[in-house]
Amino acid sequence: MQTTTAPSITTNHTKDFLPLHGTDYVEFYVGNAKQAAHFYKTAFGFQSLAYAGPETGVKDKVSYVIRQNKLTFVLTTPLRSGNEIADHIYKHGDGVKVLALKVDDAASAFAETTKRGGKPYLETTVLKDEDGEVVLSGIHTYGETVHLFVERKNYKGIFMPGFKKWESDYNPAETGLLYVDHCVGNVGWNQMNPWVKFYEDVMGFKNILSFDDNDISTEYSALMSKVMSNGNGYVKFPINEPAEGKKKSQVEEYLDFYNGEGVQHVAIATNDIVSTVTELQKRGIEFLKIPASYYATVLDRVGKIDEDLEPLQKLGILIDKDDEGYLLQIFSKPLEDRPTLFFEIIQRKGAKSFGKGNFKALFEALEREQDARGNL
Ligand code: FE2
Repeated sequence: MQTTTAPSITTNHTKDFLPLHGTDYVEFYVGNAKQAAHFYKTAFGFQSLAYAGPETGVKDKVSYVIRQNKLTFVLTTPLRSGNEIADHIYKHGDGVKVLALKVDDAASAFAETTKRGGKPYLETTVLKDEDGEVVLSGIHTYGETVHLFVERKNYKGIFMPGFKKWESDYNPAETGLLYVDHCVGNVGWNQMNPWVKFYEDVMGFKNILSFDDNDISTEYSALMSKVMSNGNGYVKFPINEPAEGKKKSQVEEYLDFYNGEGVQHVAIATNDIVSTVTELQKRGIEFLKIPASYYATVLDRVGKIDEDLEPLQKLGILIDKDDEGYLLQIFSKPLEDRPTLFFEIIQRKGAKSFGKGNFKALFEALEREQDARGNL
């Protein structure tokens, strides 16, 4: 099967049983939340927002909430060993635990998804303080990752009950990061289609794009991917699985080091990728290197673009187009020592796709890194 584009996702007239207003936050379980918060503030320009820990009555963990525009991260560390969070970090290293989604009705989201086979993670729970109430519920997805449904229409506090405002004297400038564009999951051999079915059946998502191993392969390694989207397109979850190649798939390397399925990358939108990436590189974020040969022919493939090619080449930004426009994208090296989670920075100029034209250049760059680690 070649790349296929499904019919428009807006043609379905049946009522969406899980209306989503986008990503509410991404929560990471990390070994040291204080230092991780410092890193994300310093390197990516997140702002201090909220804190929960012993000082706010939470005895067993601390969480720092940081925000940039509509992008909110929660960084959580356990204060002791022998609990679910500590075990998660021992097994996976630092990684994404929660992809939290904005809903109007968390109780309905829980009822509708569990009725369709979603495995409960958190029964509907109302958190209250003097600023109102936040209602949470949640279900499991691939690996140990979960989706929380967050209803905050009756809340005017800083983040949610249990958190206090985090005032800091250290406030590095933002870097132009705006919101989560998409979040990619890596799943095991032959697990892509079962998870596609999960997003279809349990969450009402549609498969909007598919890539097989002919699309995504190099001389050495391969993967397959299907992009799942909710009805309004605010939430997009591509799902990757490894495919057989001459050498080890990059997805397999991830599964080995993450010790299971999990979030491979979070793609973050910007309106000015050249200035965002210039700033991120200045602050020490490393990106995959793209060979000069890529830029010799890229404009033949994508046609005219608004940007000068020279700064894109200097920074290593990739370009691709579809029927609706073009996009600019770049991929960071792994954010931790384990070759697991990385970030994509993406600027869409009409294009709604995911950079298929860049897969080969991108995966060759990834393989050079994988080879340097001795894992190819
Ligand atoms: Fe991506």
